[in-house]
Amino acid sequence: MLAGMFSTPSGPIAVLADIHGNTWALDAVLAHASTQGATRLITLGDLAYGPLDPLGAVERIMALDLPAVHISGNEDRVLWESLEPVEGHTSWVFTRSKLDDSHLAWLANLLSEQSIGGLFLCHGAPGHDTEYLLETVTPQGLRPSTREHLDQRLKGIGEDVILCGHSHLPGIAQTTRGALVINPGSVGLQAYTDDVPHFHVVQSKSPHARYALLERGDSGWNVSLEAVPYDWESAARAADLNGRPDWARALRSGWI
Ligand SMILES: [Fe+2]
Repeated sequence: MLAGMFSTPSGPIAVLADIHGNTWALDAVLAHASTQGATRLITLGDLAYGPLDPLGAVERIMALDLPAVHISGNEDRVLWESLEPVEGHTSWVFTRSKLDDSHLAWLANLLSEQSIGGLFLCHGAPGHDTEYLLETVTPQGLRPSTREHLDQRLKGIGEDVILCGHSHLPGIAQTTRGALVINPGSVGLQAYTDDVPHFHVVQSKSPHARYALLERGDSGWNVSLEAVPYDWESAARAADLNGRPDWARALRSGWI
């Protein structure tokens, strides 16, 4: 039934990724999507993890009263997969302390990838929830992926639209065979650094919450990459309160 709802053209689909417990941003995005007539919702993982409001984010998504498909992200997975925190991961301890067994069971039941209504959903890249798709990490930092890289990574995926997240950077690219790869950007965290597989900086360069609206039109898919203002000061204060001034800085500015 859900697959049918997703293939029937009845208003845009709101595509959200990397909410990371930011309920201030999530509320603003859901309100914006509603004003744009969105009738269906897709989330692409990394819903709860971080020093903000993991419980609020999970409860809002679990309680949503509209057709929705959710997949798991790598940082949802570590919440139920790991029995003990990796040393130094204070956000793992914080996030786990806010969620009970029912929330963890709900996260553990999410599929890591899904094909629905002509769309292929994954968190990072197909088969790899910790790898980017539209970006490539090099020893010199983050670079946009080449079309050859996309073709290679999407071998065997037959859908015309591939939705991915994980890099927190909004983007859209077409493969050689004409498939559309769309990353809606991150709802909840606009900048971070990572050391794997090489040090790299990710920053969307403004604090707005990002998401995408997707609608099938007569001449193809219409894609709107949205940037929504919200109360990022409250989110940043929560990050400060929970010991993550780096998150607070990123939330306030969108820069590292
Ligand atoms: Fe992720």
